[in-house]
Amino acid sequence: MSGPGRTLDASPRTAAPGTPPEAAPGAGAAPTVSAHVKRVAVVGGGTMGNGIAQVFASSGFDVELVDAKPEFVERALATIGKNLDRVAKKQGWDEARVKAILARIHGGTALDAVKQCQLAVEAVPERFELKREIFGALDAVAPAQAVIASNTSSISITEIAAVTRRPEQVIGMHFMNPVPVMTLVEIVRGIATSDATTRLTEEMSLRLGKTPVEVNDFPGFVSNRILMPMINEACFALMEGVATREAIDTVMKLGMNHPMGPLQLADLIGLDTCLSIMNVLHDGLGDPKYRPCPLLRKMVSAGWLGRKTGRGFYVYGQGSNG
Ligand SMILES: NC(=O)c1ccc[n+]([C@@H]2O[C@H](COP(=O)([O-])OP(=O)(O)OC[C@H]3O[C@@H](n4cnc5c(N)ncnc54)[C@H](O)[C@@H]3O)[C@@H](O)[C@H]2O)c1
Repeated sequence: MSGPGRTLDASPRTAAPGTPPEAAPGAGAAPTVSAHVKRVAVVGGGTMGNGIAQVFASSGFDVELVDAKPEFVERALATIGKNLDRVAKKQGWDEARVKAILARIHGGTALDAVKQCQLAVEAVPERFELKREIFGALDAVAPAQAVIASNTSSISITEIAAVTRRPEQVIGMHFMNPVPVMTLVEIVRGIATSDATTRLTEEMSLRLGKTPVEVNDFPGFVSNRILMPMINEACFALMEGVATREAIDTVMKLGMNHPMGPLQLADLIGLDTCLSIMNVLHDGLGDPKYRPCPLLRKMVSAGWLGRKTGRGFYVYGQGSNG
């Protein structure tokens, strides 16, 4: 099968989560179009960026991890160290293996590090102005042949690509949270993204032990176009008194076999993020069926953003119900 919707299955070489191979970069699948990729830049070392850096380094790639301030770089490296220790304990790795992975990650604050990279993955906060600035700068310093990918959840790849002089080499590489565990990479093609860039990005995902799925650039792509309206509908159901939060989550867990209920998932993702993605769907598709639920708006206005603020649909922390 070719074209959007195509799924490449990584299963022949997929190890247990967090246990990628240790030999040549991305050993396992024989690389063809991505064989030259040895060093990868990850720009933004937060929730997603540190996970992305971890999986590249665990698969044998050298990683340049760039964040805005030295303390953020340190925080990202410390998080990766902690996460790798946890994997090592679980998988029975020796200390040397963890050290070797960490030694492949070089942290810094200068985007100049991208000069030595064949692929850059951007994972800065979900604000178009910021992405525009970063893509302009990346385009100026990255080698002419390098591919620049964005981990954006909802911003148009076509729009991001348009700020560069290489729109055919710009693509969405949408990892899922937590990156070392989740096997999907949603590969988002902008209007100008070339087949060569798409093939390289898919092959790189396979070399990480992930399963790439190719989709076209439309608001919310596939993942959030389907997930967010479900979460939004759960908010409507709660607001209209159809059922309690526990009942809504239990129906979806036990009845639909979802690992967590939509309201629990919204708390995990962050209600502000959910609202901003609903706004992208509503603005971008212009259909009233995507209007954000007023309860979701109200909770975001109150600062009840979910787990990260201790309160969302559930309350977290001491004496919590979450
Ligand atoms: N959190 C999720 O569940 C999730 C899932 C999939 C995709 N995403 C997407 O991934 C991207 C990153 O999200 P996140 O949750 O990791 O955000 P985050 O806020 O946890 O991390 C962002 C990082 O970028 C850094 N940063 C900010 N400005 C920078 C600059 N100018 N140069 C370099 N680094 C800079 C920040 O210091 C921070 O470390 C967003 O586009 C988001 O939509 C998030």
